Amino acid sequence: MTAQIIDGKALAAQIRSEVSGRTAALKARGVAPALSIILVGEDPASQVYTRHKVNDSAETGLAATLERYPADMTEVALLARIRELNEDPAVHGILVQLPLPKHLDSQKVIETISPAKDVDGFHVASAGALMVGRPGFWPCTPHGCMKMLESIGYDLRGKNAVVIGRSNIVGKPMAMMLLAKNATVTICHSGTKDLGSFTRNADVVVAAVGKRNILTADMVKPGAVVIDVGMNTNDEGKLCGDVDFAGVSKVAGWITPVPGGVGPMTRAMLLANTLEAAERSSPAH
Ligand code: GUN
Repeated sequence: MTAQIIDGKALAAQIRSEVSGRTAALKARGVAPALSIILVGEDPASQVYTRHKVNDSAETGLAATLERYPADMTEVALLARIRELNEDPAVHGILVQLPLPKHLDSQKVIETISPAKDVDGFHVASAGALMVGRPGFWPCTPHGCMKMLESIGYDLRGKNAVVIGRSNIVGKPMAMMLLAKNATVTICHSGTKDLGSFTRNADVVVAAVGKRNILTADMVKPGAVVIDVGMNTNDEGKLCGDVDFAGVSKVAGWITPVPGGVGPMTRAMLLANTLEAAERSSPAH
């Protein structure tokens, strides 16, 4: 069997196009959706990511502002700036790029962002809302994974789903989203014994650990859907995921590639969340 590819790049383009249309409609009502991005320090990867976020926003008609601060910015100053943005009615989404310099308490910083503007979905109120099925912002990466499952018309009801990884940003929210769609969910992690004994029973596997080849062909049920959240580099220095793509794509029914899979979807979902924040701030009558 050769797995069908779930093309994240194409699906992300479709989502961006929908966001563009809704953004234009909102602007016609006098509301210009705006995202404020805060970058503290000089982390090279963070500089690339935030540049992408600004460019993606511009492409879809959202106004994104990147505020850059020195690595020695005090926590008091950062929290004060976030509170100003919370109060600013022209700002709909606030994103503080992670990781932050060590002297800053990331959780405290995130929890200073108003949940109504928490487009990353990292605030405890957002996590809680997801857990109990109330409206709130969902973290972009697992949300993008759900959109990919939706795009192939996959019905999760009664299916066995295994999430490998238990981070607050991907693994845990992913499990909650799958559960909300009535899958039977297992969360595996670095302490799991005999990972294959879980994944071999899974109809859906989401690999989100940040370790190359954590999932190999012998660990996958024929026909399963495999979603690869990993972002690693291989021996040639090229981007690769957590899944042994060459092997697993011979067994799985569906698979997401890296690059061109989950990554573009994460970026697209940030735009969707920002637009959603702006729409919620100004409901149509
Ligand atoms: N650093 C890496 N990914 C992310 C993300 O999705 N949001 C934020 N705020 N920081 C990140």
